[in-house]
Amino acid sequence: MSIFQIKSVDEIMAESHERGHKLPRVLGSFDVTMIGIGAIIGAGIFAMLGEAATKGGAGPSLIISIILTAIACGFAALCYAELAAMVPISGSAYTYAYATLGELAAWIIGWDLILEYAIGNVAVAISWSGYFNDFLKSVFGFGVPLWLRLDYHTFLKSGADIAAVPHLFGVPIVCNLLAATVVGLLTWLLVYGIKESTRFNSVMVGIKLLVLATFVVVGIYYFDPKNWVPFAPGGWKGIQVGAAYIFFAYIGFDAVSTVAEETRDPQKNMPIGIIGSLIICTFIYVLVTVALTGMMPFTELKDKIAEPLVAGLQYNHAASWLVGLVSLGAVVATTAVLLVFQMGQPRIFFSMSRDGLLPPYFAKVHPKHHTPHVTTIWTGIFVASFASFFSLDTMAELCNIGTLFAFVVVCVGVIILRVKDPDRPRPFRAPGGYVTPALGIFFCLFLMLGLGFMTWMRFLIWLAVGLVIYFFYGYENSRLRTGKLALTAEAAGPDAKI
Ligand code: ALA
Repeated sequence: MSIFQIKSVDEIMAESHERGHKLPRVLGSFDVTMIGIGAIIGAGIFAMLGEAATKGGAGPSLIISIILTAIACGFAALCYAELAAMVPISGSAYTYAYATLGELAAWIIGWDLILEYAIGNVAVAISWSGYFNDFLKSVFGFGVPLWLRLDYHTFLKSGADIAAVPHLFGVPIVCNLLAATVVGLLTWLLVYGIKESTRFNSVMVGIKLLVLATFVVVGIYYFDPKNWVPFAPGGWKGIQVGAAYIFFAYIGFDAVSTVAEETRDPQKNMPIGIIGSLIICTFIYVLVTVALTGMMPFTELKDKIAEPLVAGLQYNHAASWLVGLVSLGAVVATTAVLLVFQMGQPRIFFSMSRDGLLPPYFAKVHPKHHTPHVTTIWTGIFVASFASFFSLDTMAELCNIGTLFAFVVVCVGVIILRVKDPDRPRPFRAPGGYVTPALGIFFCLFLMLGLGFMTWMRFLIWLAVGLVIYFFYGYENSRLRTGKLALTAEAAGPDAKI
């Protein structure tokens, strides 16, 4: 069988039933929309507006970037919704690619999704540490030393004195231990089988929205029209660069598809959850960006890149309890995102291992807690190590390019499936015929082109490494191509929480 062998939608559904993975369908449209908002609002809006506004000089025109990004995500979201409604199992772009483009593409996407989930979480953990420190300072009056909450590169950029930090064998110790610690704690919780409950998620979403609403009110109060002149200092290029960077803030709506098996009437509620959460977040993001760029000259954000909302408040000498509130909101928001992504990554590794594309070791399930503990722990080690030593912008850009690429593949998948399998019932059909997926591809490529040369290089190297692994391992061991049986319920454990 060839590397383009597809796993048909019927096979995927049958396998899912065979595994005995039957979860009660309890979630309605409100719950899934909340899950979407929970996964979307996090580091992007709390920590990356500053970099997005200054990087290409977008300034206040970042508002246009935000809308542009939302449009790109909207087209991709419609395609996700079409596939999620057709294959309503706890899938991801990996599963969809297996069903439409074949095994090689599925591998590439699975490998690429590591950039979305694991590298994305690296970026979220880094911004968590920044805001957690702000929160400590505003409430208790002390923080964590800079050398334990920044990577080396950012430390040097901050202008802090490297000679003053402790040295080990002549090497200065600078690493983001704070970010690594939160990742470690969450990994531990996830191994023990904490399952984010929808009620807990809704409470966290409520806190995020309340905090951002407060920020918008304060920002409008301090609004000064002078800050909007000039409106687009970086021209179209600035808008494109800003859009490519702030794309990070929208990542997560696709996570809605991971609860497809637990959703009532997924044919209707999946599209509502995916598209509804996207629309609500766009509205919020536009308001927050209007507030931030109106309350201070964007150029002032240059040195205060990691905590832009706090920078806006401090620029206007706002009350310190407001700084504490916004920091708390950011900590809550980023913790929620960390949890969703830290839970998603091991499940993708797990699926790949179950399909024989990764060694069976990765499909182990904890005998007592019934969680995919091996992949959860490896994900934790990977994310914590990267969060200790890499900078926020490098990780965010890498995550963006990987996710945009996954979106392109999903859009291509929709086109292919419509051509190859036009008669299969589509409970939800992205409107506009081929135009929607085509525009999705176009806009996502447009955003990818706004990312820097080094990001492209890292991305291509990552894909090349992935291909080598596939041809050395997955090609030989794929269950689909070698005809071996898929891992059954007995092997995975009947109660596996996967
Ligand atoms: N959209 C998520 C965030 O901004 C990844 O944290």
